[in-house]
Amino acid sequence: MSAKCIYLIGFMGSGKTTIGHALAKALHYEFVDMDHYIEKQQQLSIADIFMQQGEESFRLIESQALDQLSKDKNIVISTGGGTPCFHDNMSIIRQSGVSIYLKCSIDSLHQRLKHSQERPLVSNKSDKELKRYIRETLSTRKEFYQKADIRVIADVEIALLLRKILKKISHNN
Ligand code: S3P
Repeated sequence: MSAKCIYLIGFMGSGKTTIGHALAKALHYEFVDMDHYIEKQQQLSIADIFMQQGEESFRLIESQALDQLSKDKNIVISTGGGTPCFHDNMSIIRQSGVSIYLKCSIDSLHQRLKHSQERPLVSNKSDKELKRYIRETLSTRKEFYQKADIRVIADVEIALLLRKILKKISHNN
């Protein structure tokens, strides 16, 4: 097993943080959630960064955070849903480690994001607006997510998903 970064990528609500924790534990790696890293560094919540500085600023901060974290080793990083899709981020990800795309259906993302209050891009949307947002945004983001080294269907129970990922990582090495 190489000692590079392992990146979890995928849409909001695809389970990147939950599986990231479990994966880091299984591999005895450090775990970093990029949104938490940014919040700690900026001393602001993601929602407040969006509100006070706008999305463009957030994307710059996010790209800088990725650049910093990409220099680390033995680390599992759960990225933000938009991380691979802005600036040169997918190249940084591909050059510095192994990337895993957690692929979920629109329906399961919709179920998981329905009650999300803390995500500025999906909070305050009606059910219909949310479903449309997921469908449209996923269709533009997919081309970035698909560049991951490993793709895994993530609409499954966590223990099974973890087993599938560990198996794919060992085949990837
Ligand atoms: C975003 C996803 C969020 C967070 C921000 C923007 C996106 O992360 O980075 O709200 O553009 O999809 P999660 O995917 O961890 O919710």
